[in-house]
Amino acid sequence: MLGRITCWMLVSFFAMGVLAGIPYTPGCQRMDDMGKTYRGQIYRTISGRMCQPWNAQIPHKHSTTPENFLENGLDQNYCRNPDGRGAVWCYTVDPTTEWEFCDVSVCRTDCWDALIQGVDYRGQINFTVTGKTCQRWDSQKPHGHTRTQKIYPLSGLIDNYCRNPDGEEGPWCYTIDSDSRWEYCPIPTCTGERPRKYAGCYNAHDKGASYRGSSNTTISGIPCQAWSKQSPHEHTRTPEKYPDSGLLDNMCRNPDGSGAPWCYTADNETRWEVCDIPKCTTECWVEDEQGESYRGSVAKTITGKTCQRWDSQAPHKHSRTTKNYPFSGLVENYCRNPDEEEMPWCYTTDPNSRWEYCPITSCSCKKQTQFFGCWNPADQGESYRGIAMTTITGERCKTWADQLKWDFPTAGLQNNYCRNPDGKNAPWCYTDDAQETWSPCCLTSCTNGCWDPEAQGANYRGFEAKSITGRKCMRWDSQSPHKHTRTPENYPFSGLISNYCRNPDGEPGPWCYTVDKESRWELCDIPICAAGCWSPIDNGVSYRGYASTTESGKTCQLWDSQMPHRHSWTTEAYRHAGLDGNYCRNPDGLRERPWCLTTDSSKKWEYCSIKTCFMI
Ligand SMILES: *[C@@H]1O[C@H](CO)[C@@H](O)[C@H](O)[C@H]1NC(C)=O
Ligand SMILES: *[C@@H]1O[C@H](CO)[C@@H](O)[C@H](O)[C@H]1NC(C)=O
Ligand SMILES: *[C@@H]1O[C@H](CO)[C@@H](O)[C@H](O)[C@H]1NC(C)=O
Repeated sequence: MLGRITCWMLVSFFAMGVLAGIPYTPGCQRMDDMGKTYRGQIYRTISGRMCQPWNAQIPHKHSTTPENFLENGLDQNYCRNPDGRGAVWCYTVDPTTEWEFCDVSVCRTDCWDALIQGVDYRGQINFTVTGKTCQRWDSQKPHGHTRTQKIYPLSGLIDNYCRNPDGEEGPWCYTIDSDSRWEYCPIPTCTGERPRKYAGCYNAHDKGASYRGSSNTTISGIPCQAWSKQSPHEHTRTPEKYPDSGLLDNMCRNPDGSGAPWCYTADNETRWEVCDIPKCTTECWVEDEQGESYRGSVAKTITGKTCQRWDSQAPHKHSRTTKNYPFSGLVENYCRNPDEEEMPWCYTTDPNSRWEYCPITSCSCKKQTQFFGCWNPADQGESYRGIAMTTITGERCKTWADQLKWDFPTAGLQNNYCRNPDGKNAPWCYTDDAQETWSPCCLTSCTNGCWDPEAQGANYRGFEAKSITGRKCMRWDSQSPHKHTRTPENYPFSGLISNYCRNPDGEPGPWCYTVDKESRWELCDIPICAAGCWSPIDNGVSYRGYASTTESGKTCQLWDSQMPHRHSWTTEAYRHAGLDGNYCRNPDGLRERPWCLTTDSSKKWEYCSIKTCFMI
């Protein structure tokens, strides 16, 4: 009997195309219909038992089958409420418990749950914290985007209501103001807290002595005591004694040479604590906060235009002034991100181009692909010929020695550019003049079947050549029907070949100009590289996610390559095993879970680190 169950379940998982590029979506159940319309992917009961598939009769025999309850979404073993019980439920795989209610949160319409970032919000607020009207989710204007019903089918993306499909800090929306891509919405959390509002960054050189931002909570979330009060803590750091230290209200400061801005806390058990403020960065920008803490001096855009000064209103009039954004470091004409754009940017001095992003390295190396390219996992980056010259630790690469250039005449060892002449795992360079220590470079590998949202798909090198509306893409080396500057000459490291979807310029994902005169450019409908999860029921045989690194961090070898490892797991031999690209798979089901051949010649294969579906 066990054999029958396993075999049956395998078939079922294949048929459903588990995780076929759709991000895992738990969704929420509505209270007003007792979860009847719930179509999320949770399949665990409140006591943690797994659900029995609706079309199975083992271990529990029943008549609530997909045939008897058409259009009730009885897919796989997902929690549902086809028959009017109080909430979503399922039969369990435990023979001793016929059915139970499921652990699915209730959709909120008047507030949002901060513990799950408000993914449960289904109310009708449709304007932002600054009062802007929300753009409809099914529109691509004024902002092109991929937060569509198709890609996030279970996130309630209807009309122009604020939602959180993608793990932002709370419900948000794109705005109909073309100068403001997206903003959070003024909806209270169910416990009354508000999301942390950004309050500047502190300078590491002076340990934050010059910090004048408005942060007033400590790193463990305790509110600060006012500097002018002596309770709950008595102290001598008063505004009178430290008149030049900006000891305003209860704002975090560093009047006395401590390590970082701090405050006395409002909790009588904790005298003082450092505050929850990020350090300013000058060499790179931090992805988590979209580079709001960037305080470096780059003042040119990605197309080489000089930035307009923030204190000037010419050629472009604007409201991103020091007065409106006092803690955003808007000095000179340096690239900054005061307003939650995707990365540091500036207004340009070209009257025809209002604003553009700036070519600054991202601290995790993912978002600089557009300036430095990506490396091909098929050859471990041996063919990389870009001009990246920093390591993952942020050090500048040293020039290659003459001896090495003789030894590897065809490896492109110019200047101090990152290369892989000798079969290491990825492009690398020396970090000291003696050429004894080396480090991998700050670069990402290219993808082909999916696009990496962390890199905004700038490293996508696949072959999709039509847009999200099905229009054929225009060639990048053509100027008709649309004239443009996104040419292979201007963006040499962006893979602008033929008419394939690419992202040379920091758009939200891969896109192309279309051959249709009426539509200049559109994003492309390519699945996101979601790692997803694997199912222990079938040892992950049905896994079709896009993880492509192993447990120890090695990049996977392409399945259709015989380098560096020869093998017999070919697409021909395993037609239905999903052996695309270099994604982790378990093609023959013989190993415990998804794995891959590695690009490290000294390690044939390794398991991948992917979540198991039942631990979500
Ligand atoms: C906002 O939502 C409300 C309630 O659904 C609706 O009446 C109103 O027309 C919407 N406004 C805009 C500008 O979309
Ligand atoms: C902290 O600052 C915010 C924003 O300035 C303010 O609304 C809030 O009341 C302050 N909190 C405390 C405990 O002072
Ligand atoms: C801290 O404050 C609480 C409530 O005000 C009080 O009950 C407690 O005794 C105080 N503890 C100390 C150590 O002062």
